[in-house]
Formats: sequence, structure tokens, C-alpha cells
Amino acid sequence: MVTKFHLCHISLAMLFCMAFWALQVTSRTLQDASIYERHEEWMARYSRVYKDPQEKEKRFRIFKQNMNYIEAFNNAANKPYKLAINQFADLTNEEFIAPRNRFKGHMRSSIIKTTTFKYENVTSVPSTVDWRQKGAVTPVKDQGQCGCCWAFSAVASAEGIHQLTTGKLISLSEQELVDCDTKGVDQGCEGGLMDDAFKFIIQNNGLNTEANYPFKGVDGTCNAKAASSHAATIRGYEDVPANNEKALQKAVTNQPVSVAIDASGSDFKFYKSGVFTGSCGTELDHGVTAVGYGVSDDGTEYWLVKNSWGTEWGEEGYIRMQRGVDSEEGLCGIAMQASYPTA
Ligand SMILES: *[C@@H]1O[C@H](CO)[C@@H](O)[C@H](O)[C@H]1NC(C)=O
Repeated sequence: MVTKFHLCHISLAMLFCMAFWALQVTSRTLQDASIYERHEEWMARYSRVYKDPQEKEKRFRIFKQNMNYIEAFNNAANKPYKLAINQFADLTNEEFIAPRNRFKGHMRSSIIKTTTFKYENVTSVPSTVDWRQKGAVTPVKDQGQCGCCWAFSAVASAEGIHQLTTGKLISLSEQELVDCDTKGVDQGCEGGLMDDAFKFIIQNNGLNTEANYPFKGVDGTCNAKAASSHAATIRGYEDVPANNEKALQKAVTNQPVSVAIDASGSDFKFYKSGVFTGSCGTELDHGVTAVGYGVSDDGTEYWLVKNSWGTEWGEEGYIRMQRGVDSEEGLCGIAMQASYPTA
């Protein structure tokens, strides 16, 4: 009798157990189904097409991982910034970084030199600067899968100084740098340095417009005819004294400034809004442009940074990065290799 009851008890437990398991499986499948749906919607939105079902399955798994990461991050509630699914959601971090972040930070040591810093004696630094409001910043551009962040960064600060000295905001050509600035360190979609882009612009006596030498997102042959027509030029460039956010502030007070950062982290990749506080290292791999600075509603100081990943990313293509951090390199190394063109 006891044995029988015992057996019966076990079967009941097993039944419960199986029912519970079945329920879990169903809810897991339901969850997968809804993520699958979101992946489909995402694919349609970004016109993503996969070559076969295997590739789609692989991309779905990465998409799901990224989505779970983003949701867990946003639910954590102790972060001053938010992440969001964007055009990079079906890429692993390695896949994301490889073709895009091609600022050749490690090359700098070979060409290091000290330039003068014309803003060293600047004493008036307002609490907020936004060069967009002064008409010195062109709309956010998109480098696509070309590792020419360095060209976008250099062009944005050149567009800035040109507007500040002439009053005319002209969108200039990154593709001209990609195609024609190939004799030195800069290698188109394979990477480059902003300072070397400035050198090219000076030697070439300027750049053509974006309209006349449009962006293709791949390495091409230099269109010499187009490159001989100049919409704007710069006379020189200077480096901001390294590892000094106060010096960077003096420079940004006076014009948009090219900065190099470490943009290799997932949080940077999926940044959506708020003041970005990391995490990130200082292995400089991305060129962007500081177009201002300010203080957020909760009192956090930030740099206003223009990226070249389109307007879907971040705050309409911009990121606010924490300013005045404890380490002298600045957040993500933003104060390590800043420079600007001179008119
Ligand atoms: C800054 O001030 C010092 C001391 O007056 C001067 O020697 C230096 O040339 C100034 N720097 C610039 C860039 O004007």
C-alpha cells in the first residue's frame, strides 16, 4: 500500500513536472516567436537580406543576444543613458568593429610632433557651446561599412572652420579623401588619421563639395578632375595638448574639433540617448567630431559629439559623452588625440 502510494506520488510529481516543462517550452517558443517577428520587422526596416536560411538563423541568434543585452541594460535603471536596437543589431561586436572603426591610433607615435596651440591663452569658456546652433555643422552623414571615420571627422571640422571664417556652410567630400589621399598613412576604407587628412587638404589646396564628389562608401580611383576643383580649404592644423580636457574645452569653444575615441564597446554601438558614461577603454579606434559641450539636466558635464553612423544611431546621430572625468585621457580617450584645422 505504502509502495503503491509512493509510486502514485511519484507519477503525480512527474505529471506536474512534465506539465511545468511543457509550459516552459511553450513560453520559450512564444518568446522566440516574438523575437523572430521583431527580427523580421527589423530586416524589412533596414532592407536586410540574408543569403540562405542558415545565415538567417545565425543572424537571428545574434539579433536575439543583442536584444536581450539591450533590454537588460535598459531595465537596470541605474544608467544615465539608454541603448536601442539599431542598424547594427544583427552583428557581433567583432563584426561591427572590424570594418568601421579604422582610426589608426597606433600610428600616431611615428609621426608625433608638437604644434602650437593657438587657444592656450583663451580665458573665456562659456558653460555651453553648440556649433550646430551657429550653423557651423552640416547634417549627420553615414560612413556605411567603410572604415573612413577619419575622413568624416576631418571633413566635419574643416566644414566648421570654413563656416566660421566665411559664413558659408558647405558640405565637403569625404570620398575625395578616401580616393585621393592614399600616398601616406591614410588608406581609404582601411583607415587613416585626421591630421593626415588635414595635411592632404592643405597640399591639395582644398576639397570639392559632397555634391560634386559624392560618397560611395568603397575605395575608388581618384577623380583628379573633381579633386582639382576646390569649394573650401584650410591653411594648417594644430593638435590640442594631449590628455587635457580643459585645453580641449578651449578649442571646442572656438571651433568644431576632430577627436579620436575608443568606440569598440557594445554600449557605444547601441547608444541611444542620455549622457554616455562608458564603459569604454582608451584604445583609440574611431574618429568623430566634438561640436560643443554642456551640462545635462542632472548636472553631468558632457561633450557634444557628431558621429558618422547616420541619424538612427544615438541622439539623431550625435552622442553626449561625459566630460571632466577622473582620468586625464577623458572618457573613451577623447582628450588623447584631438586636433583642428586652421583657416
Ligand atoms: C600665451 O601667453 C604667453 C605669455 O604671455 C605667450 O608667451 C604665448 O605666446 C601666448 N600664446 C599664444 C598662442 O598666443
